[in-house]
Amino acid sequence: MTEESLNAPVVAGTRAMQRCIVTSCGAMYGVHERIYVCRRCGGPLEIGVVAGETLNSASLRDAWNLRKTSGEPRDQSGVWRFRELLPFDDTTPIVTLLEGGTPLYDAPRCADYTGLRALRLKHQGCNPTGSFKDTGMTVAVTHAAMLGARTAVCASTGNTAASLAAYSARAGLKCAILVPQRQITAAKLAQSLDYGAMVCEIAGNFDDCMQLIQELGDDPSIYVANSINPFRIEGQKTVAFELMEQCRWRLPDHVVVPGGNLGNSTALGKGFSELKELGLIDRIPKLNVIQAEGAAPFARLFAETVSKSETEPELLSISFLAEQNPQTLATAIKIGAPVSWQKSLRAVMRSGGRVTTVSEQEIADAKAVIGRDGIGCEPASAAAIAGIRKLVRARHICREDSVVAVLTGHVLKDPDYVANYHRGTLALGKTALLGAFRNMPKQVAANKSAILSLLSHNG
Ligand code: F0G
Repeated sequence: MTEESLNAPVVAGTRAMQRCIVTSCGAMYGVHERIYVCRRCGGPLEIGVVAGETLNSASLRDAWNLRKTSGEPRDQSGVWRFRELLPFDDTTPIVTLLEGGTPLYDAPRCADYTGLRALRLKHQGCNPTGSFKDTGMTVAVTHAAMLGARTAVCASTGNTAASLAAYSARAGLKCAILVPQRQITAAKLAQSLDYGAMVCEIAGNFDDCMQLIQELGDDPSIYVANSINPFRIEGQKTVAFELMEQCRWRLPDHVVVPGGNLGNSTALGKGFSELKELGLIDRIPKLNVIQAEGAAPFARLFAETVSKSETEPELLSISFLAEQNPQTLATAIKIGAPVSWQKSLRAVMRSGGRVTTVSEQEIADAKAVIGRDGIGCEPASAAAIAGIRKLVRARHICREDSVVAVLTGHVLKDPDYVANYHRGTLALGKTALLGAFRNMPKQVAANKSAILSLLSHNG
């Protein structure tokens, strides 16, 4: 590595550099370098966008708002609409499926269930491939195309795969995905196949796939699109911007997300920090990450770290203990060795938020309640609502606080889980999960009176 790469210039067509987040290192690299960790210390990288002269907060808000009425794809995308805070300038061709622009719903039944006066749900499952991954993938695949990469790859519990497959297809890039055999849902697998990706079913779990991806990343023909790639985080951070617009710039007290590989919490933390630096908000909402009990290495780390230190610890001094055999029916977050734990820990600690766990039963019941609000989501997303209920009971969140939960995936991502819950056949190993909100299908004779009689007996 040369000294130049440590003081990387901002290259034409871009307005950013990659930098190591470890404070004692701080190495910098240009955005054309295809790296995923710091070459000097091995630390995680993030993107620093160089502020242009136009970055005055009032004019930014106006420009972002105005673009909503434009017919240009670059304006219609709920990610590229915020391009002043993204790494590439207007001359870079973008790969977009018009992602973002997702609804923020009021959820009164969920509020009641969690013990809050009100609760809002930001539904990232309403993205083009049905999960929050699309907001990051548009930026990563744009970057891959810019670098002239041949094949984009990722390890995945299903959603990253579906998203990368779709964006690669748009860009005409080859795509290969590594998924743990028989551990991702049929719906997610079907998406990746349909978008033309090469699906490699690996005899192992997600963490084994991720390990292989890190090895493959050394090959010059390969572009890694997991959230270890800081360009993914850039796209995903725009959710914080869109959310603040939808909240009319009144900051929620808490934002709550499920945590797996920990890219999403990292991205939200970065988005809010950038808004604060720009003076668009005056503080950062408490960022809370929820994990499934059987796949909770980050919750364990958080409990140990906060109990030991009052101040933010140097990330290099912390050792992370992976969960060797993660288990949860929320397969999207069945992860034992999250790659973005350092960045996520920093974001959670800076926000004053928490990391906690919820049981399989809590996830399953919370998911059904989200359904009763007419919204629905996949199991991993419901961990956020189950987590809010737990945090309210522990008085870490107050009844009157304004709270936004991020729903990360669409209800149709895992229809088997939903049907099993309502039929009473959901189980993790030998443990049956009998749902408090079951809605069993009824067997009815094929005639009008039988149906009317059933309706009259069921209110
Ligand atoms: N919710 C859903 C629906 C997900 O698909 C994921 C991650 C998460 C939550 C956790 O987000 O990893 O940023 O902390 N899915 C990845 C995948 C791992 O491969 O689709 P995270």
